[in-house]
Amino acid sequence: MIVTVRQKTRASLSTATFSFPYDIRMDSLITPSSTTTGATPDLIAISGVNLSLGRGAARVHILKDVSLRIGPGEAVGLIGASGSGKSTLLMVMAGLERPDSGEVVIDGTSFNSLDEDGLACFRGRQVGIVFQSFHLIPTMTALENVAVPLELAGKPDAHERAARELAAVGLGERLHHYPAQLSGGEQQRVALARALAPDPAILVADEPTGNLDETTGRQIADLLFSTQRERGMTLVLVTHDAALARRCDRVVRLRDGHIEGPATERHWIETASLA
Ligand SMILES: Nc1ncnc2c1ncn2[C@@H]1O[C@H](COP(=O)(O)OP(=O)(O)OP(=O)(O)O)[C@@H](O)[C@H]1O
Ligand SMILES: [Mg+2]
Repeated sequence: MIVTVRQKTRASLSTATFSFPYDIRMDSLITPSSTTTGATPDLIAISGVNLSLGRGAARVHILKDVSLRIGPGEAVGLIGASGSGKSTLLMVMAGLERPDSGEVVIDGTSFNSLDEDGLACFRGRQVGIVFQSFHLIPTMTALENVAVPLELAGKPDAHERAARELAAVGLGERLHHYPAQLSGGEQQRVALARALAPDPAILVADEPTGNLDETTGRQIADLLFSTQRERGMTLVLVTHDAALARRCDRVVRLRDGHIEGPATERHWIETASLA
């Protein structure tokens, strides 16, 4: 019966405005406000994206006709072998790389309609980014690092808000430490607080636990998912960790720059560790 519903829903989606690959969460089939009813549009809609980077002989066609739709509040795991294009797709989604062709639409706004300043401003409000290697500014304290995006957004209470965000990730006692004075897990908490500070609709995370030991990585993952649920954020998480991928609502696999068709849950649980 579930299969029938899924097939029926996919058929109706494909004849409407949506294109495949598009994997539907089970709760999207029963939630009245879901994408399938048309009541809530996709928060992220990527259509026919191609991107090549590098020059001359080093030029690589990285993303090949990538289309992906993600609903508000969804947690999507992005998996695939090293070099398959996961980080590049995340950068395109965050507006840090512009595709050669195709379109990225976030919350109804097409990146193609924004100039560089407009895109930076839009990204600052809508998209938080967390990287594997933290990317904190070494000459700034934890508080100053987290305050940066708030100051850029012109928030008068940037430092107060930054302090609240740091307290929320358990670093209320580390506000004035520099990155070099913090452990890896603490630095990633600062990076998470910085990404969350502008209250973005979307959080993209590129192997956020990749540089951490297992226990610390699990703590960061717990924090990531609990915050995502509390704030109703959309999460796109790149990971090589099958256990982390399993915590997402669904998983999308990239293979050599292509998105693989919707996999069955069993398929990705069994194969995620091979990514
Ligand atoms: N600036 C660039 N110029 C040329 N090629 C690039 C550039 N950036 C990335 N690539 C190539 O694009 C491909 C995809 O890179 P990407 O970093 O997106 O992979 P990934 O799936 O995130 O891999 P990993 O799991 O190792 O992080 C790789 O083959 C990489 O060498
Ligand atoms: Mg990567």
